[in-house]
Amino acid sequence: MAIERVFGDQLGDWKRSCYCGEPRAEDVGRDLILTGWVHTRRDHGGLIFVDLRDRSGITQIVFNPEVDPIAHEKAKQLRSEDVIAVRGVLSRRPAETLNPDLATGEVELAGKELRLLNASQVPPFLIDDETDANENTRLKYRYLDLRRPRSLAHLLLRYRMTKLIRDYLDVHGFIDVETPVLTKSTPEGARDYLVPSRIYKGKFYALPQSPQLFKQILMVGGLDRYFQIVKCFRDEDLRADRQPEFTQLDMEMSFTQADDVIGIVEGMIVLLFRELKGIDITRPFQRLTWDEAMSRFGSDKPDMRFGLELRDFTDALRGSQFKVFAAAIVKGGVVRGIRIPNGAELSRKDLDDMTPFVATFGAKGIAWTRITDEGWQSPIAKFLTETEQKEIERIAEAQVGDIILFSADTARTVCDALGNLRLHLGEKFGLIRQNEYALVWVLDFPLMEYDADEQRYVALHHPFTAPLDEDLHLLDNEPAKVRSKAYDLALNGTEIGGGSIRIHQLELQRKILGLMGIGEEEAQAKFGFFLEALSFGAPPHGGIAFGIDRLAMLLSGAQSLRDVIAFPKSQRAVCLLTEAPSTVDARQLRELGIQTKTAE
Ligand code: AMO
Ligand code: AMP
Repeated sequence: MAIERVFGDQLGDWKRSCYCGEPRAEDVGRDLILTGWVHTRRDHGGLIFVDLRDRSGITQIVFNPEVDPIAHEKAKQLRSEDVIAVRGVLSRRPAETLNPDLATGEVELAGKELRLLNASQVPPFLIDDETDANENTRLKYRYLDLRRPRSLAHLLLRYRMTKLIRDYLDVHGFIDVETPVLTKSTPEGARDYLVPSRIYKGKFYALPQSPQLFKQILMVGGLDRYFQIVKCFRDEDLRADRQPEFTQLDMEMSFTQADDVIGIVEGMIVLLFRELKGIDITRPFQRLTWDEAMSRFGSDKPDMRFGLELRDFTDALRGSQFKVFAAAIVKGGVVRGIRIPNGAELSRKDLDDMTPFVATFGAKGIAWTRITDEGWQSPIAKFLTETEQKEIERIAEAQVGDIILFSADTARTVCDALGNLRLHLGEKFGLIRQNEYALVWVLDFPLMEYDADEQRYVALHHPFTAPLDEDLHLLDNEPAKVRSKAYDLALNGTEIGGGSIRIHQLELQRKILGLMGIGEEEAQAKFGFFLEALSFGAPPHGGIAFGIDRLAMLLSGAQSLRDVIAFPKSQRAVCLLTEAPSTVDARQLRELGIQTKTAE
């Protein structure tokens, strides 16, 4: 029989005396008022037990008809997620009912009065850490999802992290300055989100991909040290570690060199690990040049928690009879490989399956050999001379029982294929030391690379990154060989931050833009304001930006960025809670002078 659930029971003169997670043995005997959500209700015939939950935890409430028959009668009607206030006396639980898993497990509230503040519909999923809901349902009902202790813990860690960052940077003389959200597109490399202007029909603001130019202009403005925890917007293909709107810790310093920025940042990261994880990270962090990172790990954000490093066999195979290898080398490519110690567990099928795996990274195949007592056991053994085989074994430091994998192609494709294969094998064999936090700086990135599609050089970071002084002479004739004053910080294989020393002199900035095919006119139209600023006494400066969401994800052990963002977008860039993006009124479009075509 349905029981009528009435309005009216309100807090009134009641004032919460403590949070549900707080009552302890020393409070026994006190009269308390607790408020929260009904986590569970268990009706044991005579007694009714309610686990009452709020942000701080859970307290058990007992409704006994002999203590208060009215409250007991009301408690019969309670359902999960109803919002209630209860007055009662805190008592010690009988010995056999102590719950060591609960912080409040020694006590319970003997309910004397119950007020229903609001009723809840039956929630669509179990509100607990181990919930039965899929992610899309959780995102649609994000407010229910946020009631789960784990969700709350993620947001709490994120809050403590940004609080520590603000305090640390304040001590080091950084000033928090806000920069515009309705702005002009900054060339950061991704697609812009655009906002149409009503007043200037046909014109658009862009949402910032980062405050890059503004922070540089703040340095020209004499601010000296700037930071901001700021939303950035990039319309790019999403992955587990990418959101269309995400948060950066953005920083910039004047009269600075790479080592100064790195020093400030290391101090901050060490602090975060100590305060949030109780872990002491050793300084200075490891450093690799980009060349070294690519040749040893096939990645500019290497996961340093395991070995399986790449080896280079190009020199050993120059002029080889094996056409696959020789052809790649003749074309200026490389042959590199990975030695898998004791690779015997890999079946023929495992080895064959690597070809489709690397194909997704543009590689044509993976060749392999087993090293046995009788020598090479491999489909390609017959193509390689004894000398070549021995030389490969020497370079790979191979032992009997090992497997060596080979990839031949351009350096970029081989790095991509083997770098990803390395991560895959590291996981497959359980080689990744899960409890370790491996931080590594990657330095001396190439300033630019040739983009065959666009037929021009493009910046590896952004076009405001300064070249290394010792490479300036290469700018005119071998621009692809010029290294930059950029630095990225990777944590366990994820890029958490990136920045650089900037170009602060107008002539050099113009020259670099020119090399990237951005002519005077285009530069003037896109960021003439910035170039002009450089001409009015811009100080030498540099900075960095961190992915706050990524840092929070890694520090909390969450699996995805969505777990550490209160209202994230789905993998398909939709806010499932509000159902944005959505259509708008015809009138709104008319005002903006915009006509839409519905998607085909
Ligand atoms: P960059 O583009 O490397 O540098 O961005 C800095 C950091 O922001 C994080 N990040 C993201 N996090 C979540 N979702 C995304 N879509 C996303 N894109 C980037 C990464 C990255 O390391 N203006 C420069 C910084 C500078 O030069 O000072 C910039 O934005 O953790
Ligand atoms: P094929 O001569 O094409 O049958 O290739 C012989 C072996 O070399 C097969 O195991 C292929 O998977 C492998 N292979 C083909 N192309 C490459 C490449 N670019 N790099 C490494 N191995 C390759």
